[in-house]
Amino acid sequence: MDRPAAIVAIASDHAGLEMKERLREALSGWGYAVQDLGPATAEPVDYPDFAEAVASVVSGGRAALGVLVCGTGIGMSIAANKMPDVRAAVLYDDFAARHARLHNDANVAVFGARTMTADAAVARLRLFLSESFEGGRHARRVAKIGRIEKRLGPRAET
Ligand code: RB5
Repeated sequence: MDRPAAIVAIASDHAGLEMKERLREALSGWGYAVQDLGPATAEPVDYPDFAEAVASVVSGGRAALGVLVCGTGIGMSIAANKMPDVRAAVLYDDFAARHARLHNDANVAVFGARTMTADAAVARLRLFLSESFEGGRHARRVAKIGRIEKRLGPRAET
């Protein structure tokens, strides 16, 4: 039997709506089960509401990964990173797209619709999805991010 498709939650604000549609189609074409959390129209909305929607399903384990789009990608990433266990990264170039997964174990890919083309965003999302976390020394660093989040304070080097 085929494995169930990995769930990817996606959302944008009004500035990112068109790019979100492109990314959603690409994800479906690659075989992911896409959960589109809006918006449905280009009516102005507040990006933190949509960042929270995606970040909460990723944080709660109800989606494997998330994708967010706003004008720059910055507001969405700031907001999404407030949620426990969410590591949202703006994929501003191809190197960053690969290394957000390899080194940072990012679980939310963020794009700026006003700072890159939709073709570039689709290509970067593909790169992001094709990589896996390297672990090793990077696991220690990502664990330290978790400690900051839980306000546990510094931990001795291991
Ligand atoms: C909306 O005009 C814009 O501020 C938003 O899309 C985003 O760029 C915020 O970071």
